[in-house]
Amino acid sequence: MTTETLNPAAAPTEPVVRAHSGERFLGLACRACDRPEKAPLAYVCPACFGPLDARYDLGVVRRLVDRAAIERRPPGIWRYRELLPVEAPPRRGLPVGSTPITSAERLGAAVGVDRLWLKDDTRNPSLSFKDRAVAVATARAIELGVPALACASTGNLAGATAAAAAAVGLPAYVFIPADLEPAKIDHALAYGATVVPVEGTYDDVNRLCLEVADETGWGFVNVNLRPYYAEGSKTLAFEIAESLGWRTPDVVVAPVASGAMFMKLARGWDELAEVGLIERRPVRFVGGQASGCGPVATAWARGNDAIEPVRAPDTFVRSLAIGSPADGREAAELARRTDGSVEAVPDEATAAAIRDVARLEGIYTETAGGVTIAALAAARRRGVIRPGDEVVAILTGNGLKTPDARRLGLPDASATADRPGLAPVLAPSLAAFERWLGGAA
Ligand SMILES: Cc1ncc(COP(=O)(O)O)c(C=O)c1O
Ligand SMILES: [Zn+2]
Repeated sequence: MTTETLNPAAAPTEPVVRAHSGERFLGLACRACDRPEKAPLAYVCPACFGPLDARYDLGVVRRLVDRAAIERRPPGIWRYRELLPVEAPPRRGLPVGSTPITSAERLGAAVGVDRLWLKDDTRNPSLSFKDRAVAVATARAIELGVPALACASTGNLAGATAAAAAAVGLPAYVFIPADLEPAKIDHALAYGATVVPVEGTYDDVNRLCLEVADETGWGFVNVNLRPYYAEGSKTLAFEIAESLGWRTPDVVVAPVASGAMFMKLARGWDELAEVGLIERRPVRFVGGQASGCGPVATAWARGNDAIEPVRAPDTFVRSLAIGSPADGREAAELARRTDGSVEAVPDEATAAAIRDVARLEGIYTETAGGVTIAALAAARRRGVIRPGDEVVAILTGNGLKTPDARRLGLPDASATADRPGLAPVLAPSLAAFERWLGGAA
């Protein structure tokens, strides 16, 4: 069964990128030793075991695009096709990206930030920013002819991979820690994925998937397709810059798990500057992690950026619970180099921040978003965010995915007419209602 989701960005209103792709997208190369890698489904350098990155000829990209050309294109991540690692935008796929960025005056006032924007990535098709990365990995997977999509997931990637596979008609295999939130499991199952719960932490799941990828040849979006997948997060940087009138904010605040998205925000803005779409200005990078699994926050606080793996994560922020983050050292280093910070957030503060952003701005975010808003407040208290700064905080997933955040701090059924919350169960009579209302006075 396939979904006939045609991608509006692929409509032939202008020449496809394919004509230039040989010179524009140069394939993969090692981040550590620069060795080009010819095998398209590779993710480590055979010479030095360094990670592989997508490479572009930015001089060619500079000649291919300008602001006006991008602004004429339909919404979605393929607006920025020249800076994505595919031959051409896919013919099929979910409509990902171009999510709203809203001015958050009430939340800003509450945390002491004068100019605060919220990038609302809870609104992607599977309700998290992972749709960006998965859309790019899927487009590349189809170009490479992989037989199935798969992933090792902390939760949101499961739904994103399952949804993307459904939209293009590929089978999906989703590997998760067995104790994941049931809402996320049901979500992936609904799209028709095969969900494989694994006893252990995310890091155990990930290790297993390295072997399964080799064994099966399936396209694991965050394993053997990782160099393409990671590039998808750059589209957050592109959209933020375009929304602000082709410029960067003073500070960006984002959640950190593997650190991939954090790093790709920086890469995205670097590339926009190199191809002449924005002016290069310093951006301070503030990351958020749960204190019960905060290897990057710990490395940043210690000041040497070396990652000490967290073997037994202890947090309800499952989506960020990666004890051994692939890009952890670089993420800590990015925060330090830019005069930012990586904040460790206790679960109680995360739960309170989820309610604050919902109550003050009308956006319901999952635990990673709670971590982000609590990190924003912590960075403001620390002085990393200063009066007058323009700040963008990224809300990366929808709150309906993490109902267990209710456990911490939601009021019990004792609401009154002037104290919001859950009211006690009423008998179906006006008299009962009036008794309850009277109690409030
Ligand atoms: C909602 C949400 N936000 C942020 C992240 C962090 O992503 P990264 O692994 O790129 O650091 C994740 C990762 O799973 C996530 O699910
Ligand atoms: Zn190498």
